[in-house]
Amino acid sequence: MAPPQTHDDWTTLYFEATQIFSPSAPVDEGELFAGRSAEISKLIEAILERGKHVILYGERGVGKTSLAQVFRYLFPSIIQKFKLIREQVDPSDDFSSIWRKIFKDINVSIREEGVEQTISLADLYDKEITPGDVRREISRCFKASDIPVIVIDEFDKSRDDSIRQLTANLIKALSDYSANITILIVGVADDISELFAEHESISRCVEQVSMPRMSNNEMKEIIQKRLPRLGMKIDPDALWKIVTLSRGLPSYVHLLGLYATQDTIEHRRKTITERNVDAAIKRSLERSQESIQREYASAVHTNRQDTLFTEVLLACALAQTDDRGLFAPNAVVPPLSKILNRSITIANFQNHLKKFISEERGRILIRLGKERAYKFRFRDPMMQPYVIMKGVEDEMLEAKSLDVLSSPAQPQLPI
Ligand SMILES: Nc1ncnc2c1ncn2[C@@H]1O[C@H](COP(=O)(O)OP(=O)(O)OP(=O)(O)O)[C@@H](O)[C@H]1O
Ligand SMILES: [Mg+2]
Repeated sequence: MAPPQTHDDWTTLYFEATQIFSPSAPVDEGELFAGRSAEISKLIEAILERGKHVILYGERGVGKTSLAQVFRYLFPSIIQKFKLIREQVDPSDDFSSIWRKIFKDINVSIREEGVEQTISLADLYDKEITPGDVRREISRCFKASDIPVIVIDEFDKSRDDSIRQLTANLIKALSDYSANITILIVGVADDISELFAEHESISRCVEQVSMPRMSNNEMKEIIQKRLPRLGMKIDPDALWKIVTLSRGLPSYVHLLGLYATQDTIEHRRKTITERNVDAAIKRSLERSQESIQREYASAVHTNRQDTLFTEVLLACALAQTDDRGLFAPNAVVPPLSKILNRSITIANFQNHLKKFISEERGRILIRLGKERAYKFRFRDPMMQPYVIMKGVEDEMLEAKSLDVLSSPAQPQLPI
């Protein structure tokens, strides 16, 4: 790629960066999709097995929709055979309305008075659609050589309880009839019982694919797959900082990657340095959603000087977590000791944790598990990198102390 020379060249590059990083949209191009090989293999194996269906679940924003959208591009030899239909559940949807949307995407030929016509399958149903209707229609809509996959995304969103039971019935029936189709249910959940209360009845015919947070290598790949397209590079320290701050959440990698790239281009350079990442942190804090800023302020507000809510929350955000973002109270000790520069015990902040799960502080954290083995996590995963960036920006923490962070995949965070 020829280096940009004119003002227009740099402006073009700036906008190309906007196209390549997608902080708020799922990835829809195979080549820009990073990592996730274990989840892809599980998914594809289940799709190719007759009678198996898939439940893909995990925290908000970890990349579920992207995976459900992109997996077929990773299999070029059979990509033609995949017939992917994707719909997402709205809060008002029930079983019948979501299948009506799916039926709208399926065309069928009918013969009326000797004339062949193509209509949408939904046109054949003016009343409710039942699991039995779906099973019958699905079995005759696709060719035997097709690999049909129906993705029902945002499954957790429906307020209608019967959708869960009816979908479980459908999955069971499709499996019993060995229908040539895979239903791929995608939703935010810690555990599949949140999506299907009585999941035992379908446990044999579904593959549960849990989507963990990304490892550092996967997050690095997000940046490394994009920069060459812009003819740009990144210093190892800058890459380390983006990855460290993002806490396994790909949308932050995109956001910091985008802003750091844009800042570098504004300075007419093609290698991203740590200073560009610092500028990106500033920009992302300024532009972060007002709701996040408000929730943060309400969680740490205090009338007195010495109540340490800000510091404890920062330490929670830095605490070592498992791959679902959960941390135990003792994981807060090392970062808090570092932030306060003195030795700390759980007793010093137990009360703060209690407050953070209360309404009074906007339930910024949620608590799971049993007494004495409680685990915590941020209710909104997107809050966690925000809290860290705020800490770095407000100089509560030196950037080099970020080495107190560690992720389950790579405790040493080497780059
Ligand atoms: N494997 C990946 N490679 C590169 N970017 C990714 C990958 N997975 C997700 N992303 C990016 O992360 C962000 C969140 O992805 P996505 O929307 O797929 O997550 P999600 O789990 O479906 O979120 P939600 O729970 O809000 O529906 C998007 O900006 C997307 O572009
Ligand atoms: Mg999604």
